[in-house]
Amino acid sequence: MVKIAPSILAADFVNLEREIRRIGSADYVHVDVMDGVFVPNLSFGISAVQAIRAVTELPLDVHLMITKPGRYVGQFCDAGADLVTVHVEADEPAAILDAIGQIHGKGKRAGVVLKPATPAEAVMPYLELVDLILVMTVEPGFGGQKFMPDMMPKVTALRMLIDTRNPGCELEVDGGVDPVTAPVCVAAGADVLVAGSAVYKAADVPARIAELRGASGVQGPCPWTPPAL
Ligand code: DX5
Ligand code: ZN
Repeated sequence: MVKIAPSILAADFVNLEREIRRIGSADYVHVDVMDGVFVPNLSFGISAVQAIRAVTELPLDVHLMITKPGRYVGQFCDAGADLVTVHVEADEPAAILDAIGQIHGKGKRAGVVLKPATPAEAVMPYLELVDLILVMTVEPGFGGQKFMPDMMPKVTALRMLIDTRNPGCELEVDGGVDPVTAPVCVAAGADVLVAGSAVYKAADVPARIAELRGASGVQGPCPWTPPAL
């Protein structure tokens, strides 16, 4: 079944503990970390992850939108992250490999993230090492943006690569995921859906999580042709 990772970037920060309890039926808590350099925004840091860890048993999916993430991955693991994802664009491949090694050395799951302009092939140095690949379906930096359906061929290409080379790896999408776009992502091959606005703006949060989790396939023919590999 599809996993749901609500992004607390869309939560009410004054009541963060209550906001995390509202998503108790989700699979992961998605925590967006921004440094104001890799993306033009600032958000949570290490101490926030530590505080969140104290109020939930759900796995923390920490999405690092920071330059040279290897400087901080160990501290995010120690703060209580269960899964730490780093952008492939955020440093040289050798440094990204080192960051993945550091995360695994802490006994945590590691993933890589692709910005919209980054092709699927960019995962090749990491494909067999990672536990999750995250495809951005908006430009990283802000919640509430419009879903980019043109990312779906990339999701499908990565699904094929994962199935043949690292079947245990999860494939996550992030940005503009809602009840309309979720089935499109699932049909393309995603198995973890991040959703911020769609979860926290819903009148009934648990019902919205169930609705997103139930997403399975688009109606009618697939609107794109999977690329040949
Ligand atoms: C964007 C973040 C997303 C964001 C998603 O940089 O990585 O996780 O919170 O928000 P929605 O679901 O509102 O597009
Ligand atoms: Zn995110």
